[in-house]
Amino acid sequence: MQNEQTLILVKPDGVSRGLVGEVISRIESKGYAIDALRMLNADRSLLEQHYEEHVGKVFYEPLVEFMMSGPIVAIVASGNRVIEGFRSLAGATDPTVAAPGTIRGDLARDQGTKVVQNIVHGSDSPESAAREIQIFFPQ
Ligand code: RTP
Ligand code: MG
Repeated sequence: MQNEQTLILVKPDGVSRGLVGEVISRIESKGYAIDALRMLNADRSLLEQHYEEHVGKVFYEPLVEFMMSGPIVAIVASGNRVIEGFRSLAGATDPTVAAPGTIRGDLARDQGTKVVQNIVHGSDSPESAAREIQIFFPQ
């Protein structure tokens, strides 16, 4: 798709550790455009929509609690194959094994928390991206 878009979140661990600029810098350095950006405190109903695929999983409640624990930054980034490209920049879900050079591999580690804290979220498909962008940027 030409000029595909994805929804990226800098999670509360990324914001509290002062890594918003680092994440944006990696997106921009890769060559993607920042189309929209906002900081917010996510509430439960917003997170229920965003994480609907995970409702009922053991990590769901800890995940929602973690995502409500502080401000997050929502970003719409664009460029050809940006969905796949940002997932590649982010690295594997588990930061202990995420490859060095990736956001999670370089900047996160296991903190012994109930849910893995891994700095960023990125949409995993065009359908997820369209759905998630609507949730965070409804206008
Ligand atoms: P994301 O949605 O945040 O980009 O991450 P992902 O696709 O790599 O991982 P996903 O399976 O969608 O899980 C969403 C987030 O839930 C937390 N999680 N914890 N076993 C666990 O403790 C576990 N599994 C998932 C992570 O914060 C993950 O990013
Ligand atoms: Mg996911």
